[in-house]
Amino acid sequence: MCTVQEYTYLIFPMSKVLDRLNTFYHSLKNMKAIRVHKFGGPEVLKYETDVSIPKFGSSDILVNVKAVGINPVETYIRAGTYARKPQLPFTPGNDCAGIVEEVGSNVTDFKKGDRVYTTQTLTGAYAEFTISPSNKVHILHSGLSFAQGAALSTPYLTAYRALFIRGAGKPGETVLVHGASGGVGVAAVQFARSCGMLVLGTAGTPEGIEIVKKAGAHFAFNHRSTDYLEDIKKAIKEKAIDVIVENASHINLGKDLTLLAKGGRVAVVGSRGQVEINPRDTMAREASISGVMLSNSSEKEFKESYAAIWGGKEAGWLRPIIGKEFTLENACQAHADIISGGGALGKTVLTVS
Ligand SMILES: NC(=O)c1ccc[n+]([C@@H]2O[C@H](COP(=O)([O-])OP(=O)(O)OC[C@H]3O[C@@H](n4cnc5c(N)ncnc54)[C@H](OP(=O)(O)O)[C@@H]3O)[C@@H](O)[C@H]2O)c1
Repeated sequence: MCTVQEYTYLIFPMSKVLDRLNTFYHSLKNMKAIRVHKFGGPEVLKYETDVSIPKFGSSDILVNVKAVGINPVETYIRAGTYARKPQLPFTPGNDCAGIVEEVGSNVTDFKKGDRVYTTQTLTGAYAEFTISPSNKVHILHSGLSFAQGAALSTPYLTAYRALFIRGAGKPGETVLVHGASGGVGVAAVQFARSCGMLVLGTAGTPEGIEIVKKAGAHFAFNHRSTDYLEDIKKAIKEKAIDVIVENASHINLGKDLTLLAKGGRVAVVGSRGQVEINPRDTMAREASISGVMLSNSSEKEFKESYAAIWGGKEAGWLRPIIGKEFTLENACQAHADIISGGGALGKTVLTVS
């Protein structure tokens, strides 16, 4: 004989009851978020204060967002020029750090109050609350701030993929991080330095050069100065470069090939247009050009990268450098700024209160 309560659980499992209660509870509250109702310029990022807190599933985590990492790709998606277009309206962003607010009934690895960062969201990161599948949520090391946590995902995962998985960088090799003052560049410099590579990095402003040095590059150059390629060659005593992590391939790919050692590799991370190359520059060197697309990573590769990020923090060399900070309300200014070419100073983040 069952009690009424036991009978209810039998026909309607407890986990489902809790999930339904969560959904009901959150449908009563609103949050602040950026919403995009049409594709276009930065002005289509609308700050709204009455957005429903999203509903989460049994394997998801509701995160109270404290800081958001802004990535250039989010400006392409917002403009509607990226290959993958989200359904309108949407809240942008995948990279954030914050505090676990609630967990779905099947989630056992996290609890309310944990400090976390996300590598993917289901409902967008530019918001007070976001939902992430639990396998895309990671404990934020106690030595990192929320802003630094928001700088981990896309930049460090992409840098790891470019440098080690696609670029096959090894200790003892020489790497040029072409565009080392931004999110991906700083991360690539830190990974490369930590594993015993000789690290050269570039930036486009004197302040950016300081960031590249602070990140740990042995040598830093200004990619806007006319003679910097000669300066690079002099710095490494006319030796050649084994790996180039290229953040501006539409400008540099042709020149990169002339800098490479025999068996050298260029990892194409960023490109905003076409460029002319001389294929002959690859021949005697047997050089390779490898495309990089973070979203192509396998689950095994992602796990490897997450472990490298955690290990880097434990060892002390992983130190995300935060550049410009904007409030959630000013997300449109952040988008205008990151794409302006005004000079990166580390990772651009939004703070959410
Ligand atoms: N393939 C992928 O999966 C993937 C993933 C993430 C990012 N990306 C792309 O990778 C690029 C970098 O991303 P991010 O997050 O690091 O952006 P970011 O923070 O805006 O940094 C951009 C970097 O590019 C540099 N740059 C500008 N002009 C350059 C030039 N002529 N030569 C060399 N570098 C130059 C900037 O230097 P200054 O500002 O100092 O001039 C800065 O270091 C973007 O195009 C982004 O879309 C691709």
